[in-house]
Amino acid sequence: MRNKIIIGNWKMNKTPSQTESFLQEILPKIKQSSSVVVFCVPFTNLDIASKLLKGTKANLGAQNISWQDSGAYTGEISGAMLKELSVSYALIGHSERRQYFGETDTTVNQRTVAAHRHNIIPVVCVGETLQERQSGNAQDIVTNQIKQALKDITPEQAQNTIVAYEPIWAIGTGVTASANDAQEMLKHIRKQLNNLYGDIADKMHLLYGGSATAANAQELLSQPDLDGLLVGGASLKVEDFSTMANIV
Ligand code: PGA
Repeated sequence: MRNKIIIGNWKMNKTPSQTESFLQEILPKIKQSSSVVVFCVPFTNLDIASKLLKGTKANLGAQNISWQDSGAYTGEISGAMLKELSVSYALIGHSERRQYFGETDTTVNQRTVAAHRHNIIPVVCVGETLQERQSGNAQDIVTNQIKQALKDITPEQAQNTIVAYEPIWAIGTGVTASANDAQEMLKHIRKQLNNLYGDIADKMHLLYGGSATAANAQELLSQPDLDGLLVGGASLKVEDFSTMANIV
């Protein structure tokens, strides 16, 4: 049995002081959650969040990680910097990074390799556009994203890699993939992972993301290949995210 994981992706939201009040309010409400809860906060909030999460069951995540370890890479944040702030997860290749910041399958792979180098669990995001889905190419697109992202990742590392399926047409739109559509793609993803890693694929955690809310979480989570949720908008609200963490 794979345990469930719920990850909040705050994107570019909340200042350090807002982070402090948010975490102080939500942490007591998710104390009983039996799932793994992760807060992926902006870099500027990692320090305060790491202090507040210390001694709790909740985990800290970053929204990106450099593929370099140090040096002349203006604006980048390395695995070692994250590790010192107790970061244990990093989102990689979110579609917003692919769309606005030039992220490619190659850089996604480099960042995934770097995350493992620093014992940070990469949460590799994949997903198709509406056009790709409508033209029947969704599975091929996602297969290719996965193969490229996991190039040179060993079976042992794969076991500690999370794949998040986030159809681009569902992100921030209020249009959630149906539980069946999510399951169908996640089953396909697990099959691809099985081709790459054999039985280890059954141990890997696969998440769904895209307009997941407290209202649809239960139905999504009942799907056999869906091991958790990557939550954007709803992760910014104490009531919504704590409800979701407790459903999980
Ligand atoms: P959303 O975002 O829940 O606001 O759709 C999900 C994500 O981008 O990770």
